[in-house]
Amino acid sequence: MTSVVFGASGNVGRHVAEGLNSVGAQVRWVGRDPNSARFPAGADIVAADLECPETLPAALDGAERVFLYAKPEGIDGFVAAAEAAGVRHVVLLSSGAVTLPDPMDNPVARMHLLVENALASSRMEWTFLRPGMFASNALWWWQRSIREEGAVRLPYPEARTAPVHERDLAALAITALTEPGHHGQAYEVLGPESPTLREQVQHIGSALDREIAIEVVSVDEARADLRKTVPPFAVEAILAGWQAGLTGPHEVSTIVEEVTGRPGRTFAEWARDHASDFR
Ligand SMILES: NC(=O)c1ccc[n+]([C@@H]2O[C@H](COP(=O)([O-])OP(=O)(O)OC[C@H]3O[C@@H](n4cnc5c(N)ncnc54)[C@H](OP(=O)(O)O)[C@@H]3O)[C@@H](O)[C@H]2O)c1
Repeated sequence: MTSVVFGASGNVGRHVAEGLNSVGAQVRWVGRDPNSARFPAGADIVAADLECPETLPAALDGAERVFLYAKPEGIDGFVAAAEAAGVRHVVLLSSGAVTLPDPMDNPVARMHLLVENALASSRMEWTFLRPGMFASNALWWWQRSIREEGAVRLPYPEARTAPVHERDLAALAITALTEPGHHGQAYEVLGPESPTLREQVQHIGSALDREIAIEVVSVDEARADLRKTVPPFAVEAILAGWQAGLTGPHEVSTIVEEVTGRPGRTFAEWARDHASDFR
């Protein structure tokens, strides 16, 4: 039974492919340019682009299960190719944004919802992972200034978020793909705790064994900083997410433990796992 992992070089996808491989599943590693990805020697590797439907039959040949990133531009071609290949179950890395009011008016929610809707209307079984903010966004936000200046600038240091470790998303995907009971489920995924942004920076400092200075800046200054490293469509979503985290306790979730049997990883664990990225 072949499991196809699209984005097998991605932050989440690579852990899905490695995890499936380690439990003995037959894995096909897919990337748009597999030569530039560090896939294991001897692995079943196929080049394919979700936005180029003609590349999909080769990637999906003989597959029963798929891990998928949300690419609305190619989703009709994906559904047609996957159904033709006999795929039975797709786990989609979606987004918690789809549960916002008026999701079709929000660009992040819309792109994920279009893909969810296409899969829900298909003949295939599906599972949707709907995460909130990734812990790995800290690389976008703070990697450059920590490396270059040993400091971060924050508009809302006391804002709380519930960051999700990419390994927990991969563990959810692997469980959903390999164990019964996850068809037709949409899992909203938040981290197990909600540290303030100040505490998150302190966790990175502890992992590096040095103090990181925190400078409080205006929202406009923070926006200008974010624009240096974050895709434009995400800048306002991040600022809004931080601002929302100023009011009351932030929601957290136990879904990782409920589904996988292992507690969700904390931001402190994420910081230790990624210390070298900040050096
Ligand atoms: N960051 C957040 O806070 C957040 C929150 C909720 C949801 N999400 C979702 O999670 C995604 C990010 O996940 P991540 O961190 O694992 O991303 P990532 O590290 O940037 O990896 C994205 C993967 O998608 C693959 N990909 C991109 N375009 C493709 C295409 N046209 N055809 C086939 N594969 C394609 C890439 O593969 P190749 O380049 O090798 O082809 C890459 O491996 C977001 O895009 C969003 O959908 C993110």
